[in-house]
Amino acid sequence: MRANIVVLPGDGIGPEVTRAAVAVLDAAARGNGGYHFTFSEHLIGGAAIDACGEPLPAATLAACKGADAVLLGAVGGPKWSDPNAAVRPEQGLLGLRAALGVYANLRPLRVHPRLAELSPLKTERLDNVDLLFVRELTGGAYFGAKTRTDLAATDECRYTVAEIERVSRRAFAFARLRRRQVTHVDKANVLETSRLWRSTVDRVAREFPDVKLEHQLVDSMAMLLLSRPSAYDVIVTENLFGDILTDEAAALAGSLGVLPSASLGDGKAGLYEPIHGSAPDIAGKGLANPLGAILSAALLLRHSLDMEHVAQDIEAAVDAVIEAGALTSDLGGTASTDQVTAAVLDRLGTGQTRVAA
Ligand code: NAD
Ligand code: IPM
Ligand code: MN
Repeated sequence: MRANIVVLPGDGIGPEVTRAAVAVLDAAARGNGGYHFTFSEHLIGGAAIDACGEPLPAATLAACKGADAVLLGAVGGPKWSDPNAAVRPEQGLLGLRAALGVYANLRPLRVHPRLAELSPLKTERLDNVDLLFVRELTGGAYFGAKTRTDLAATDECRYTVAEIERVSRRAFAFARLRRRQVTHVDKANVLETSRLWRSTVDRVAREFPDVKLEHQLVDSMAMLLLSRPSAYDVIVTENLFGDILTDEAAALAGSLGVLPSASLGDGKAGLYEPIHGSAPDIAGKGLANPLGAILSAALLLRHSLDMEHVAQDIEAAVDAVIEAGALTSDLGGTASTDQVTAAVLDRLGTGQTRVAA
C-alpha cells in the first residue's frame, strides 16, 4: 500500500517532534512489508509568515487536500504574538482545519502507571482512567464573525444543528466501541448555543439507545475531571470547551507532551497533531517530549491508513519506553527528544538507534 503523507513541522518544537514522528512512521512502513510512505514537507504558521507573508500558503493547502493524511507539529510563538498583528500563525492552523473539514477532534487519554506518580492527584484516583474527548473543531467562537474597535471586541459563537449532529454521531459511534457512555459538556444554564447542543445531542442519542448519555455543565466538569476522572468514557463538547478541558486533562497523564490527537472529517484523510503547542520556552534545546507526536502518528495509521496492528505496536513501544524510564524532563527524566525517539524505534524492533536528520 502506498500513502502520501504531508508533514507540516511549523514553529518552536514543532520541527523537533514531527521529525521523531516521521522516523517512527518510516520505521513502521519498512518493518511491515508492502507499505510505502511518501513524506512531503510544507510550510505553515509563523515559518510560513516569515517565508511568504501568509500562515497557510496555497501550495501547503493544495498538498494537504491531496494527501492521505497530514501530520502537524505546532504553530505560533512570541515572534508572531503581537495582539495587533494583522496575520497570525494560528490562522493557518484554523484555516487548514476548516478547509479539510475535519470537524471531529479525537483526544484520547490514558494514564501510564509509571506517570501517575507525577500527577498532583492521588495515584488511586488515576486507576482506570481511559477517556476519549471528541472536540468539535470547525465551529463556535473560533470561526464566528469577529469585530474590534478601540473600545470593544466581539467573537460570535454560532453552531448549526447539522454541525452538532455530525460530531455527536461520531462521539456515540466511538462510545459503542468502548464503554458505551457519553458525557456531553456545555454551559446550557447560560448559553443559547449550549441549549441547541443539548437538545440536538438528546435527539442523536435516540439513534444509539445502547449508549448512556449524561449532560454536564462545563464549570463543574472542570472540577470533576480532576476529582473522579475514571467515571468518564467519551466526552463530547464544543470547540472552545474542548480546547480548555483537554489541556486540563493532560495533568492527569503527567504532561501536555504525551497527548496525541486525530482530526477527522467524513472521509478517510485526517489531520494529526499533538495537543501541545510550540513550547517556545524549550524550543531548540532537544528537550521536547516527542511522545504526543509519535502517538499522533499511531492515530494516523489507525484512522487514515487502516493499519490498526501497527498503531498498537507503536502504542505498546511507547508504553514500554515509559516503563523503562526513558523520559524527557517534563516527565522528570533526563533523556533528550532524540534519545526517547531512538528508544521507541528500538522497541519497535527496527534496530535503528539514531533518528534520521
Ligand atoms: P504550549 O503547549 O506550547 O506550552 C505549555 C507548556 O507545556 C510549556 O511550559 C511547554 O514547555 C510545555 N510543553 C508543551 N509541549 C511540550 C512537549 N512536547 N514536551 C515538553 N514540554 C512541553 O502552550 P503555550 O505556551 O500556551 O503556547 C505557545 C504557542 O503555541 C502559542 O503561540 C500557541 O498559540 C501555540 N499553540 C499551538 C498549538 C498547535 O499548533 N496545535 C497548540 C497549542 C498552542
Ligand atoms: C490546539 C491549540 C489551537 C486551538 C490553537 C493553536 C489555535 O490550542 O490545537 O489545542 O485552540 O485549537
Ligand atoms: Mn489547545
